[in-house]
Amino acid sequence: MRAEILKMLLDHIGTYVSGESLMNACSISRQGVWKHIQALMEEGYPILTAKGSGYQLPHDPHILTQSRLEMILLSMPLIEKAYHFPSTPSTNAFLKEQSKRIESAIAVADEQTQGRGRLGKAWVSQDQGGLWFSILQRPSILPSQASMLTQVAAAAMVKTLLTLTTIEIKIKWPNDLMIGDRKLCGILTEMSAELHAIDYVVIGIGLNLYQQAFEPPLDKIATALCQHHSGTIDRIEIIKLFLENYQELYTCFVRDGNLKEIIDYLNQNAYLNGHEITIMHDTTKKAKASHVNVNGELVIQNEQGEQESLLYGEVSVRRVL
Ligand code: BTN
Repeated sequence: MRAEILKMLLDHIGTYVSGESLMNACSISRQGVWKHIQALMEEGYPILTAKGSGYQLPHDPHILTQSRLEMILLSMPLIEKAYHFPSTPSTNAFLKEQSKRIESAIAVADEQTQGRGRLGKAWVSQDQGGLWFSILQRPSILPSQASMLTQVAAAAMVKTLLTLTTIEIKIKWPNDLMIGDRKLCGILTEMSAELHAIDYVVIGIGLNLYQQAFEPPLDKIATALCQHHSGTIDRIEIIKLFLENYQELYTCFVRDGNLKEIIDYLNQNAYLNGHEITIMHDTTKKAKASHVNVNGELVIQNEQGEQESLLYGEVSVRRVL
């Protein structure tokens, strides 16, 4: 309800929307409208009120709030619930805790105090440093197919950032986005499953946006969008476009059960393809990366010149610089 009211005000920036039209659109009482207007003001929306005229938002304050997230979901049937936190330990951890109660959701935090990365590493997620969010879903796919979702999310984020900026951004198999040789974004996909069925997946995305510099050791390996893009960086715009792209690519992926719809895109924007790489597993091996296949495996040529396919989760890969 509150999201609908916010949408009506944002659709009529600079003009008054009458109390009646809000009451009718939401089928609520005048008091009900007022309650939501007050709550929106508390979230930070500078709403003007005038007796006889109604309510007006003089400008879009571009703040990421609970209501704004819910408003984005109004046109996103894929995801049911939204959660916004000024601070939380980890949006992945939060959605995993909620997975018994809710079907699908997005959780976004301004700050994470215990952000988690892949392979048990921490993910630095300072207040307003970037976009830290997770999506909970229950796709009808096999557990063995779940790792491909990481690449669906990676493709959706690259598509988003290539629309909003002119920066060259590459996908480093299986879960990173890179600008040059530095990491811009990481994706952590976690799941709960039985042998043949997925209970849920949580896809967590950490996108560095506003950090002018990083503390060691990240100063050598990380980057943020603001270091490459002079225009404004609006988390709302990124989330909205990402969710639109993700919804489209996810639907194709679940229908096909593989990455055939986006495989060309993944390979055209791949960071590793054609490069010498180091594969870290039990031992360290050198190889040459060829391409990603429709099952989301990285196809490589080993030192003996034979082709091998690497599975997500089994290995960690580094490009030889
Ligand atoms: C990686 O590259 O290691 C993956 C990083 C994933 C970080 C995101 S931030 C939002 C979500 N919540 C977490 O605790 N982790 C993911």
